[in-house]
Amino acid sequence: MNTLQNDTFLRACLRQPTPYTPVWMMRQAGRYLPEYRATRARAGSFLELCMNAELATEVTLQPLERFPLDAAILFSDILTVPGAMNLGLRFAEGEGPVFDNPVRTAADVDRLFVPDPEGELKYVMDAVRSIRRALAGRVPLIGFAGSPWTLATYMVEGSGSKEFARIKGMLYDAPETLARLLDILARSVTQYLNAQVAAGAQALMIFDTWGGVLTPRDYRNFSLNYMAQIFQGLTREHEGRRVPVILFTKGGGQWLELMAETGADVLGVDWTLDIGTARQRVGSRVALQGNMDPAVLYADPARIRAEVDSILASYGPGTGHIFNLGHGIHQHVNPERAAAFIAAVHELSPAYHR
Ligand code: CP3
Repeated sequence: MNTLQNDTFLRACLRQPTPYTPVWMMRQAGRYLPEYRATRARAGSFLELCMNAELATEVTLQPLERFPLDAAILFSDILTVPGAMNLGLRFAEGEGPVFDNPVRTAADVDRLFVPDPEGELKYVMDAVRSIRRALAGRVPLIGFAGSPWTLATYMVEGSGSKEFARIKGMLYDAPETLARLLDILARSVTQYLNAQVAAGAQALMIFDTWGGVLTPRDYRNFSLNYMAQIFQGLTREHEGRRVPVILFTKGGGQWLELMAETGADVLGVDWTLDIGTARQRVGSRVALQGNMDPAVLYADPARIRAEVDSILASYGPGTGHIFNLGHGIHQHVNPERAAAFIAAVHELSPAYHR
């Protein structure tokens, strides 16, 4: 396989020295880019875009053509995995994801199965292979999946949710049913991520978007433990390099120490905690990814630069920091503000790596 021209991101994940702080943005390929909206219109729908390897490659590379990003992320979605379990997934315009056949009972869980990554999910692996070829070693490719808990929230609720009434009802009334669902998802995600690595993904990220809505006890029992189970089963070395794994629990700042014990190489942090404090808490156990409030990108470039500087100063000197937003970039952000953000990280960070 081709050699990497820029391995700054992978080195920072493994806490090896780098000349500057690498940067990428969650949701870097998405609706804030006019060229994304144009390709999506050509594809028809969001799911058709995910299923078309050529167009998924095109949108993965679009942000890299505009900005000097240090990593690419596979263009896909976390819901591809439950989408392969015959639950009638669709993305309704303006409403987000919907499952027409949600999982509500023990009998519904009995009907689920572990999808074959080179069968029902082959379109994702085809996209990974195609993107790796198109990148030609420019920057590493990040593969990803949702956490079992986060996937289960969509499968049980049948759509996005604010109160999580149905899945929390299942958690308190039928915890064994939920445990069986989470176990199927953990096995599915393990195979799915390993297949992404075999297809060419050079780092992996688990999105636990909804772990933060749980009590500390339930976070451990219903989210963290299943992510730890996944990490136990992952391929950690490929093509002679370690494949770093990033764990991101939105709203999980209070559990950093627990998260650092799961086997993750990197913890993603949102903007609700100070990254310097987070670094003190995890010490040298893991690297950190984050954590600028995505809403800072509505401010002018000088303000964005000041915010980048304050996060770099808070993290302090040395490696182990991957700059990112604390969550995905918003769809109404002007791409020029994203450019200012990335330039500020590259211009200001070398002072912290001497
Ligand atoms: O980061 C990237 O650029 C890679 C692609 C990516 C998408 N979704 C593309 C997408 C990734 C990593 C995801 C992850 C994802 N998907 C998460 C976890 C991360 C997070 O944001 O917390 C979640 C919860 C989902 C589920 C999902 N997908 C929702 C709730 C929605 C609708 C809401 C929304 O923001 O549109 C999606 C759709 C989606 N996934 C879009 C994109 C670019 C928008 C689709 C469109 O309308 O074009």
